[in-house]
Amino acid sequence: MPHKFEVARFKRLMSAERRKELPPKLVLGEIGLRPGQVFVDIGAGPGFFALPASAIVGPGGRVIGLDVSPVMVDELRKNAALKKAANIRTRTIPETGADFPAGADFYFLANVFHEIDDRTAYLRRIRSRMTARSRLVLIDFLKKKTKHGPPLRDRIPLRTIRSLLVASGFTVVRIFRPNEEEYGVVARRA
Ligand SMILES: C[S@@+](CC[C@H](N)C(=O)[O-])C[C@H]1O[C@@H](n2cnc3c(N)ncnc32)[C@H](O)[C@@H]1O
Repeated sequence: MPHKFEVARFKRLMSAERRKELPPKLVLGEIGLRPGQVFVDIGAGPGFFALPASAIVGPGGRVIGLDVSPVMVDELRKNAALKKAANIRTRTIPETGADFPAGADFYFLANVFHEIDDRTAYLRRIRSRMTARSRLVLIDFLKKKTKHGPPLRDRIPLRTIRSLLVASGFTVVRIFRPNEEEYGVVARRA
């Protein structure tokens, strides 16, 4: 069973330090999120990406924040209300994934994928809801010692991510490095 982020530490996820190390708006710009689009944030936590995504997609777009933790979903809901982000919907989902919304522009997992148990099944579940223009984005920690992040043994090397994606019916479109500690992978249906 992979390591899980301790829910009680949700404040760290929204910290100014993290914002500096992994500027959410820059990352969302890097993947090309635009006004009017639909952004499914899987394992959204308290909304580190969902909130800025809501501002980018605007009133014509939608953000769907999903998480296995009801505490996280509650925090996201509160933060969305505080920001008056009316285009954010939230839902608690099972560990194995959900019937993800179909045909979204982005299915986005930031620092979540290493916490998932059956990764191939989870990827296939997402893929089944994607169209040809949908993009899957995975952001996670490199398999090396870093200041923050999950234990080294739970990190997934980039080459393993690539193989998992290919085995699950994806083509890698692009790889980016949001900082020194993490990688980002953009993929589409093969
Ligand atoms: C380290 S936090 C990252 C939260 C958010 N993506 C961010 O970057 O701030 C990992 C999140 O993934 C959620 N999570 C863990 N396993 C999950 C699963 N199988 N499906 C959906 N969410 C999951 C956790 O509850 C937690 O909120």
